[in-house]
Amino acid sequence: MEKRCLFPQAGGFLHGGDYNPDQWLDRPDILKEDIRLMKLAGVNCVTLGVFSWVMYEPVEGQFSFDWLEEIMDRLYAEGIYTILSTPSAAHPAWLDAAYPTVMMVKANGERNRHGGRGNSCWSSPKYREKIGIIDRKLASRFGSHPGLLLWHISNEVGGECFCPLCAERFREYLGRRFDQDIQKLNQAWWTPFWGHCYSDFAQIEPPYSNGETSIPGLLVEWKRFTTWNIVDFLKTEIRIFKELTPQIPVTLNFMSFSQKLDYREAAKELSLVSWDSYPAFHNDQETLYETMAKTAFHHVLIRSLKPEKPYLLMECTPSVVHGMPYNKQKRPGVHRLACLQAIACGSDSVLYFQWRKNRGGHEQHHGAVVDHLGTGDTRIFREVSEVGSMLRRISEAAGSMPGSGAALLVDWDNRWALNEGRLAGEQTKNYEKTCIALWKEFFRRGVEMNVVSTEADLSGCRVVVAPMMYMLRPGTAANLKRFVENGGLLLATYLTGYVDEHQLCYMGGFPGDGLSALFGVISEELDTLYPSDRNGIRFADGTHWEVYDYAEVLRVGSAEVLGVYAEDYYQDGAAVTCNTYGQGKAYYVAARVAPAQMWTLFERMLKEAGLPVKCLPEGVEYHQRRGEKDVYDFYLNWTTQARDVPVAEGEDLLTGHPVTENMLRLDPYGAAVIRRLAPEE
Ligand code: GLA
Ligand code: ZN
Repeated sequence: MEKRCLFPQAGGFLHGGDYNPDQWLDRPDILKEDIRLMKLAGVNCVTLGVFSWVMYEPVEGQFSFDWLEEIMDRLYAEGIYTILSTPSAAHPAWLDAAYPTVMMVKANGERNRHGGRGNSCWSSPKYREKIGIIDRKLASRFGSHPGLLLWHISNEVGGECFCPLCAERFREYLGRRFDQDIQKLNQAWWTPFWGHCYSDFAQIEPPYSNGETSIPGLLVEWKRFTTWNIVDFLKTEIRIFKELTPQIPVTLNFMSFSQKLDYREAAKELSLVSWDSYPAFHNDQETLYETMAKTAFHHVLIRSLKPEKPYLLMECTPSVVHGMPYNKQKRPGVHRLACLQAIACGSDSVLYFQWRKNRGGHEQHHGAVVDHLGTGDTRIFREVSEVGSMLRRISEAAGSMPGSGAALLVDWDNRWALNEGRLAGEQTKNYEKTCIALWKEFFRRGVEMNVVSTEADLSGCRVVVAPMMYMLRPGTAANLKRFVENGGLLLATYLTGYVDEHQLCYMGGFPGDGLSALFGVISEELDTLYPSDRNGIRFADGTHWEVYDYAEVLRVGSAEVLGVYAEDYYQDGAAVTCNTYGQGKAYYVAARVAPAQMWTLFERMLKEAGLPVKCLPEGVEYHQRRGEKDVYDFYLNWTTQARDVPVAEGEDLLTGHPVTENMLRLDPYGAAVIRRLAPEE
């Protein structure tokens, strides 16, 4: 596999994070000390300017960048590179006072007042004009600075604006989408129901909380529009950098599995993707391993947006978060492991929010590398420094990538449609949870599974799991059919193929759009169980699965029946089927079953596909990054006990010791990164 080290000038992995020296410009002693401590901690990169608009432009039209240049110069002289952010996430007070329409309007139609951040109307021409001026100045002044690595656009973008201008743009968007033909829209949204027909695009409003929230087609289109509008805004920023500094890549920081923005669309505009990770460490509901398995899913979700190259962990906390119900400390050793997990999943960085704690302000108690105590002799600082040296020890792995032959299908449109759809159980749809739970079964056995969208090219996959694909976008069914026809193994579940992209139900049997032919079944009824209800599925070999939440009653066509319902009026009816289609097979699991029970079926699919399964002790995570000649096996122990893991021989880069036995002992919270020659493909 070709290695694509993102920033070779920085020597491999990036280590550092958000640095907000704007607060300390009157304290040259602190700035000096920061650089000394950064070098001690092995920091080679900081992110500057995320919220610095008012520092760049304290008064409208008066600009000040000298302070930034001085800091960037000083950092660079010490070997510390800069990711430079655009400050669009935080408005100066003067901007909001002079031009109130730059602020966001809530779903009740009320305009926000000045304050906080992420409070922008994406459509506002004034906001776009003003941030454009700053961006141009940043690009021309710093674009050729030797310390500049990357542009970072805004901060964690997302959010719906319901202002009159956004409403107007929504109508224009709909006009384009439906060829200016209002009857097309009426058909697609099935507006004759409840007498909701429109006679003019001008009558359409966003789904205000006290307005039109009863047309499913409108609701999902509003979400799509919001993504389109945010991306349109992002493009106005990105365009400037592409024009003035085409050599500098562009990213923005995503937030795990956010509902607010369809990341697939935003990622298309970026050179590379990054995200901010804040898991609830050591919570009282699950083991640390379970928490970190979910975090691994988020890493892979983001990686999969651009699977051909590494991504960046743009933020994480070196110690505690703030503002969660309980802001618990990571136990000693856990920070290092969490950082290594990011690297194992394909990140080429470990970056923090933030370098030094702010003295006052909203996040004054959020963890930072340098505490209010102000020294480098703290546990947190030492653990961060250890990460710095660890990253140096494994730096040769930068640019390598995890490979993957399995994929989980996830779609934002589907998620919006399902979550807001008036069907099934209000509390039990759990689309996100179901996706993650299924994915975790593969993760537990060390099977690397990407997260792909329905439009992704699936030709590199052997096994695809597509849970609850309630909404099919145009081309989804064809994509899945092609995949199976060419030998792929596909598994879908209850709630597949009910509606099209406009939320119109398929006629002639679910799963629609031709998928009932692919699976060889038609789902005739959906039974939603109450939380205490149970059913079961029986298999010929005596295996029994427990059913909860959902059970579909199937009409079987060409599929082979593998398992049948154990009880109720659909007892003995098909519940798990397999249909041979072209060179491949399409499995249908018509009921909700604990993912762990489904493993027998997954294992059968993986075996048939020739994908290896690992036998990992409980609480141990595994990933492999592949370089040109070498592969890197990552083993992470998320438990407080030592664990023996079966390994292949090589060299443990963390200790520098050869691994000659095929069993390796991992300490509590211990890890190994074993380099070995890539096996012949
Ligand atoms: C987010 C933001 C940061 C900071 C952190 C910590 O990820 O991007 O600016 O607020 O959370 O709370
Ligand atoms: Zn708006």
